[in-house]
Amino acid sequence: DTPGLVDRFGRVATDLRVSLTDRCNLRCTYCMPAEGLDWLPRGDLLTDAELTRLIRIAVEHLGVTNVRFTGGEPSLRKGITDLVAATAALRPRPRISMTTNGIGLVRRARDLAAAGLDRVNISLDTLDPARFAAITRRDRLADVLAGLAAARDAGLTPVKVNAVLLRGINDDEAVPLLRYCLDHGYHLRFIEQMPLDPQHGWDRANMVTAAEILDLLGAEFRLTESPRPRGGAPAERWLVDGGPAEVGVIASVTRPFCADCDRTRLTADGALRSCLFSERETDLRGPMRAGASDAELAESWRATMWAKLAGHRINDAGFAQPIRPMSAIGG
Ligand code: GTP
Ligand code: 5AD
Ligand code: SF4
Repeated sequence: DTPGLVDRFGRVATDLRVSLTDRCNLRCTYCMPAEGLDWLPRGDLLTDAELTRLIRIAVEHLGVTNVRFTGGEPSLRKGITDLVAATAALRPRPRISMTTNGIGLVRRARDLAAAGLDRVNISLDTLDPARFAAITRRDRLADVLAGLAAARDAGLTPVKVNAVLLRGINDDEAVPLLRYCLDHGYHLRFIEQMPLDPQHGWDRANMVTAAEILDLLGAEFRLTESPRPRGGAPAERWLVDGGPAEVGVIASVTRPFCADCDRTRLTADGALRSCLFSERETDLRGPMRAGASDAELAESWRATMWAKLAGHRINDAGFAQPIRPMSAIGG
């Protein structure tokens, strides 16, 4: 009956990304400084009940069919399993996923799957323990690899692996990472680094591009375009040696996919963002705590998405990074 989250360009947002916390137990150099960031104050975070209410409004009133929990590291949130269960109880039941660094999965994968989590995307930039410790500033590679296996064994499939290649640091690992993922039944995607770090360390000249990644892989594998439709997904997929295994490339910078974007975002402190790169946000926490109705919150959400810009401006002169870093948006 009520219209969904449409924008002026005819896109419809059906995929909600919910950040549960801006905190993380890793310190990836391209994401945050060694000392961490000034975390959001506890009182600013949405409670589990507030999060569940907003997810319910998105699903029941706004046509959202996919809910992804992100962070920071979403598994640091104590109520994660209950949040998944509450989301799975909604009708129509949304598909539920999580983007995680994988460290919490040995302990949690089974409970999350039982609560209704459908699948996970896990970050893994290197297979070398010393490099992992250098990139993430924590010596936890074994925990991540065990977390991947735990996710697969718990049926959180397809298990997707996200890898960011950094020039001179891990850009010699494109082939080994793909071999590892093929051997273990994980779906690997390489991601172009985006200008979203609070340290403003992104440098276009230093970014490993999709074209380079495909060249690196092409030396060892025969890649052909996947026939499966891409929809609004960020990843372009390639069949590896004729398939059925695939590898993905998320080329946000050199091949933007904004025209097909189907995302809407909610931050851990209750701000709506129509885009990863939005300059403006809409606060829902304030109105919600002041007594706004479901209909009023839904209307605010619709208005926010209607104002969504055509695309990011990374490639335009005068591009300015959003003030919120990646870890406080949810990627
Ligand atoms: P699925 O395709 O549903 O499995 O998830 P995903 O790849 O969209 O999500 P994930 O959290 O694993 O993100 C992978 C990479 O894509 C990260 O670097 C995200 O920041 C990036 N990403 C996700 N959504 C968007 C988006 O709307 N725009 C851009 N430019 N990048 C995005
Ligand atoms: N650009 C692209 N991807 C990033 N990630 C973190 N920071 C960036 C960035 N600046 C990745 C993480 C994780 C995913 C959610 O986003 O490595 O896999
Ligand atoms: Fe944590 Fe992800 Fe940022 Fe790494 S990229 S520090 S895992 S939030």
